[in-house]
Amino acid sequence: MNYHIFTLFPEMIEQGLNTSIIGKAIEKELIRLNLINIRDYANNKHNKVDDYPYGGGAGMLMQPEPIYSAYKAVVHQHKETYVNKKPRMVYLTPQGKTFNQEMAEEFAKESSLMFLCGHYEGVDERVLEEVVTDYVSIGDYVLTGGELAVMVMIDAISRLIPGVLSNKESTEYESFQDGLLEYPHYTRPYEFLGKTVPDVLLSGHHAHINKWRKEQSLLRTCERRPDLIEKASLSEDEKKFLKK
Ligand code: ADE
Repeated sequence: MNYHIFTLFPEMIEQGLNTSIIGKAIEKELIRLNLINIRDYANNKHNKVDDYPYGGGAGMLMQPEPIYSAYKAVVHQHKETYVNKKPRMVYLTPQGKTFNQEMAEEFAKESSLMFLCGHYEGVDERVLEEVVTDYVSIGDYVLTGGELAVMVMIDAISRLIPGVLSNKESTEYESFQDGLLEYPHYTRPYEFLGKTVPDVLLSGHHAHINKWRKEQSLLRTCERRPDLIEKASLSEDEKKFLKK
């Protein structure tokens, strides 16, 4: 997967993503980060990339030309990739569609993705109309820029790419797989602060363990995210269990 990220703060993303599992995936070349500093495409000697909004109002806006020049340069550098295909460009904005696991799965099918991180009060609308294919928000709150949001998206997308997670970290049984939250986990010691591990987990009886985990999943989802229960497709037995 090739990620092309257009930002005014490449060092923030570089530092944030070059560690742990995503750092290893970069080392293994399962994913590639191409960080493009929009300021390098400023068309004036002060490297200025923002200006006041027409019509007045608070704050500054990112100007369209540096973003468009940076975009054109990357498309040109990778012209074999984009010869018959418009680049998929995600603009991170609280005005976008809310990011979720299903979207992560859909983005993970691409072989390359572009991301545009906004700053200040926003970006001139004309360049957005020209380059953006997907408007995405990571939640209903306002960040100071798109950098943290793009890191969240890249983390969630990358872990779905084959080889990024080891078997140990595998995504087989986890929150959202079946639309429910994951069951609770326990490791050694057997007793901690006077609390012991549920007996069923020591029984060695896999059918009982699976049943217990499924029930815990259902109970936890009901308690913490009742909105997910409404959307999950539950079996008759599962519905009966929850009514108890
Ligand atoms: N930029 C600022 N706030 C954001 C949010 N909630 N999601 C994505 N990008 C953003």
